[in-house]
Amino acid sequence: MQGASTRETTGAAPVTVVSHPLVQHKLTLMRDKARSTKGFRQLLNEIGTLLAYEVTRDLPLEPIEVETPLVTMQGVQIAGKKLVLAPILRAGIGFLDGMLSLVPSARVAHVGLYRDPDSLQAVEYYFKAPSDLADRTVLVLDPMLATANSAIAAVDRLKERGARDLRIVCLIAAPEGLAKFRGAHPDVPVWTAAIDSHLDEHGYIIPGLGDAGDRMYGTR
Ligand code: URA
Repeated sequence: MQGASTRETTGAAPVTVVSHPLVQHKLTLMRDKARSTKGFRQLLNEIGTLLAYEVTRDLPLEPIEVETPLVTMQGVQIAGKKLVLAPILRAGIGFLDGMLSLVPSARVAHVGLYRDPDSLQAVEYYFKAPSDLADRTVLVLDPMLATANSAIAAVDRLKERGARDLRIVCLIAAPEGLAKFRGAHPDVPVWTAAIDSHLDEHGYIIPGLGDAGDRMYGTR
């Protein structure tokens, strides 16, 4: 159904594919190898905003009194502590500004991981997060859920530091990576704009969009 998000559950936390037409349209523009660095970055930012809207849909609300210019009324506000956005460097940064435009007071945790090109294992080189992760909802931002090694390592580390309520936000997931991630962290739900066909022998998502970090920053 166009415009709806599809949810799949198999015992583990759900995977939600965000099929909103704006998300799907922008994703197709991003896949185009002729898209400029500037255009690619802009689109990733815009999709970040749209995914932030979807992934925060079920945040709990609490009542709060508000004085309008005319009367006092009962309004609502998001309950609990501010969200944490946890981009996995580099490509996760591409979602950050777009998401912060909707949740400007979110805290930001940086998780520096690179993928060893031979083993495809995630190697940590930087980690900095708020100290009270146990009390917050943490959105882990990783545009390409390929082997899932980085997402698994990031969630391992965030859990080690106390996080209990985590959500993964990605742009494209590979079926192999999704299965592996859900095996490692069955309690963590996933939001993605697409689930592609498969991984190639180098760990790239097919059809995918290439290396998201390189395309965002014009490197390679
Ligand atoms: N990381 C990327 O940026 N692209 C892929 O296809 C796989 C991992």
